[in-house]
Amino acid sequence: MKIFKEKLGRVLASIALVFVLLVGVGGYTAWYHLFRDVPLTYESPEEHFKYGSIGTEPSQGVPYWIWLVLPRIFPDKLPGAGGYTSLGITWEEGKETPVGFTKKTIGFPRVGITCAVCHTATYRTSPVEKPYIFPAGPSNKFDLQGYIRFLGAAASDPRFNADYILDEIKYNHDFSWVENLLYRFLIIPQTKKALLQQNTDFEWMNSRPNWGPGRIDPFNPVKFNTLKLPKDDTIGNSDMMPIWNQKLHKGSALHWDGLETSLKETVQTGAIGDGATKDSLPVADLQRVEDYITELAPPKYPFAIDEQLASKGNQVFANTCASCHAFGGERTGTVIPVEEVGTDRHRLDMWTQQAADTYNHFGDGYPWDFSQLRKTNGYVSVSLDGLWIRAPYLHNGSVPSLEDLLEKPENRPKTFYRGYDVYDSLRVGFVSEGKEAERVGFKYDTTVAANSNQGHLYGTDLSNNDKKALIEYLKTL
Ligand code: HEC
Ligand code: HEC
Repeated sequence: MKIFKEKLGRVLASIALVFVLLVGVGGYTAWYHLFRDVPLTYESPEEHFKYGSIGTEPSQGVPYWIWLVLPRIFPDKLPGAGGYTSLGITWEEGKETPVGFTKKTIGFPRVGITCAVCHTATYRTSPVEKPYIFPAGPSNKFDLQGYIRFLGAAASDPRFNADYILDEIKYNHDFSWVENLLYRFLIIPQTKKALLQQNTDFEWMNSRPNWGPGRIDPFNPVKFNTLKLPKDDTIGNSDMMPIWNQKLHKGSALHWDGLETSLKETVQTGAIGDGATKDSLPVADLQRVEDYITELAPPKYPFAIDEQLASKGNQVFANTCASCHAFGGERTGTVIPVEEVGTDRHRLDMWTQQAADTYNHFGDGYPWDFSQLRKTNGYVSVSLDGLWIRAPYLHNGSVPSLEDLLEKPENRPKTFYRGYDVYDSLRVGFVSEGKEAERVGFKYDTTVAANSNQGHLYGTDLSNNDKKALIEYLKTL
C-alpha cells in the first residue's frame, strides 16, 4: 500500500511536472509565436522614417507572409501588373517591404504603415527611368483607398482561406509545424476577420467621391473610427502635404485648414490616425521622426534654372505672394478665411468643433496628451519650400501645375490625370495628360464634389512675362 502510495505520488508528481512543462512550453510557445515584441531599430534617421514603426502593427499589422502572397492570389483585384506597385507604392531594390511599410515581429512578422507611405515624393524624367525618392515630400502616386479596397476585396473572396494561402506561402518560406498550425487555425482566420471588419469600417467612403492617388480623406476615419463620432456626409478629400523643413515652419498652423498648432501633436495624431493605439503610441520613435523632419531640407529643383529670370521673378513674388508665403511673411502660416482665398470648402467643413473637442480629450490620463486641436474658418497660407515636387497644387490637388495655378480658374484644366510621376519641367508639375498619364493615372474631374479648382486668384492678372519670371523663381524654393 505504502509502495503503491509512493508510486502514485511519484506518478502524480511526474504528471504534474509534465503538465507544468507542457503549460510552460505551450505558454512560452504561444507567447513566442503570437506576442513576442522584437524591437525594430534603424540607426539612420532616414531609414527609421521610411521603415521604422509608428506603432500601427499591434492593431493594424497584416501578417507579413499573408500580405506578401495576396497580390499573387488576387492579381485580378489590383489595378494592373506589378503587385502592390500597381497601387503607386514605391519599392526600393533589395528591401523586404516598400517605402512606408514596416516589417515588425510581434509574435509573427507583421506589416504596418508609416508616415513615409504618404509623405514620400517621387519623380522620374522618363517612363523607363527608376524614380528618385524624396522622404518627407508629399506622395503623389500612392493610392491608399485602392490599398484598403484591395485588402477588403481579398478578404471577402472565398479563396482567402488557409489552403490557398499556406500553399502560396510555401514558395517563399517554410513554416515549422507549430507555425503551420497557428497560421491555419488562428492567424489566417483572424486576419480575414480583421480585414472584413476594416472593410466595414471604411464603407462610408464608398458613397463619396474617390480619393485617387496622392489624396486621402485623412480625418473622417479619425472622426468615425477613432473618436466614434456619428457618421455625417462630409467629404474631406485632401492632397498629401510635405513635412520637411519644420525648423523654418515654426509658428505656422498645421494641416491644410490649420486644425493643429503643435508639431508634436501633429506627429502623434499622425500615428493615431494610421492605426497606433493609445497603448502602442511609441513616443520616443515618433520624437525621432519629429527631429528628422525638423532638420530635413527640401530637395533642390533638379533641372536647369535661368538665374536672371528667377531674380526678376523674385521681385514679382515679393510684390504679390511673399506676404502670405515667404518665411517671416506677415500672414505666412496663418489661416486665411475661406471666403478670401475662395478655394473649395469641403475639406474645411469636414472638421468640426465637436471633433476637435473630442480629440483634445482622447489622451486624457496618458503621458502624452492633445490640447491644440481646433476648428478654423479657412486654409493656411502654407510655406512653399520644395514647391516644384508638390504638384498637383492646392489642398485638394485640383490644379496640375504652377503654370495652371497662375491662370484664372476658367482656364485651368477641367479634367486631368494624377498619379503619374514623370516630371513636366515646362509647366512645372507632373505630366497630367497623354497616353501614359491616362494609362497609369486617375482621372481627376474638377466638377466632382470637393474637387473644385476655384479660387486662389493671386497672380492670375500678371503679364505673361511676369508669370514666366515668377514660375522660374518658384522653382528655386
Ligand atoms: C495615410 C497617409 C498619411 C500618413 C500615413 C501620415 N500622414 Fe501626415 N498628412 C497626410 C495628409 C493627407 C496631410 C494633410 C491633411 C489635411 O490637413 O487635410 C498630412 C499632414 C501632416 C502634417 C502637417 C504638415 C503641414 O505643413 O501642415 C504633418 C506634420 C504630418 N502630416 C506628419 C505626419 C507624421 C509624422 C506621420 C507619421 C507618424 C504622418 N504624418 C502620417 C497623410 C498622412
Ligand atoms: C492672401 C494670402 C495669399 C496670397 C497673397 C497668395 N497665396 Fe498662395 N495660398 C494661400 C492659401 C490660403 C493657400 C492654400 C489654399 C488651398 O489650398 O485651398 C495657398 C496655396 C498656394 C499654393 C499651393 C501649395 C501646395 O502645396 O499645393 C501655391 C503654389 C501658392 N499658393 C502660390 C502662390 C503664389 C505664386 C502667389 C503669388 C502670385 C500666392 N500664392 C499668393 C494664400 C495666399
